[in-house]
Amino acid sequence: MRGRFITFEGADGCGKTTQLRRAVDRLRALGVDVVATREPGGSSAGAEIRSLVLDRRERPIVPVAELLLIEADRAQHVVETIRPAIERGAFVICDRFTDATVAYQGGGRGLDPALIGTLNLIATGGLEPDMTLVFDVDVSEAMRRLDRRAAESGGEAATRFDLEHAGFHDRVRSAYLDIAGKSPGRVRVIDANRPIEVVAADVDRFVEELRCRCAI
Ligand SMILES: Nc1ncnc2c1ncn2[C@@H]1O[C@H](COP(=O)(O)OP(=O)(O)O)[C@@H](O)[C@H]1O
Ligand SMILES: [Mg+2]
Repeated sequence: MRGRFITFEGADGCGKTTQLRRAVDRLRALGVDVVATREPGGSSAGAEIRSLVLDRRERPIVPVAELLLIEADRAQHVVETIRPAIERGAFVICDRFTDATVAYQGGGRGLDPALIGTLNLIATGGLEPDMTLVFDVDVSEAMRRLDRRAAESGGEAATRFDLEHAGFHDRVRSAYLDIAGKSPGRVRVIDANRPIEVVAADVDRFVEELRCRCAI
């Protein structure tokens, strides 16, 4: 049986990682074979690529170099992790995938969407998610959450993307909504301004929809 592939997308601070952990715990408790992974950083070379792409550096990375690093990570990630898991019948949940590149490097950085489409196709070999959840949150709310997360954990450091101005984040958000409008069969938009439990109920509903599709 072929597995399923679902991606979680949206701005930093929208709650992807929070929701992904909850969804994974719930599915594992039900006995589902789940593979949780993320981009950038899901491949063996991923940790190094992730730090190159996200770390705040003295030396900036030009947008095209950033794009190529992300796509290199994706190419490795798809072959090494995602495809084998789907083929063995697992339920794969990935924190960011191709839509993040369209939203951040396309919408945010202004790189050519056709170029991004081509590179996404090369990196994935044509693999597309069966379902994508876009967690849509107000830019100001996302900023508040990121400040809180940084203060609470002392942990997850600000990335190069967190340092971008509000206009950048507005463009990323619009790009995600644009993707959802163009791919209504694949993409579900969830209002992520609401409390964690309320958002989680929507996540569970969509995940169950995909699992049922799987059983047919
Ligand atoms: N629905 C929510 N309401 C309020 N705070 C939230 C919500 N979802 C997540 N958070 C908090 O916001 C911060 C960012 O969430 P996180 O899951 O790390 O987002 P992302 O992975 O999308 O960047 C965390 O501190 C998390 O606990
Ligand atoms: Mg996260």
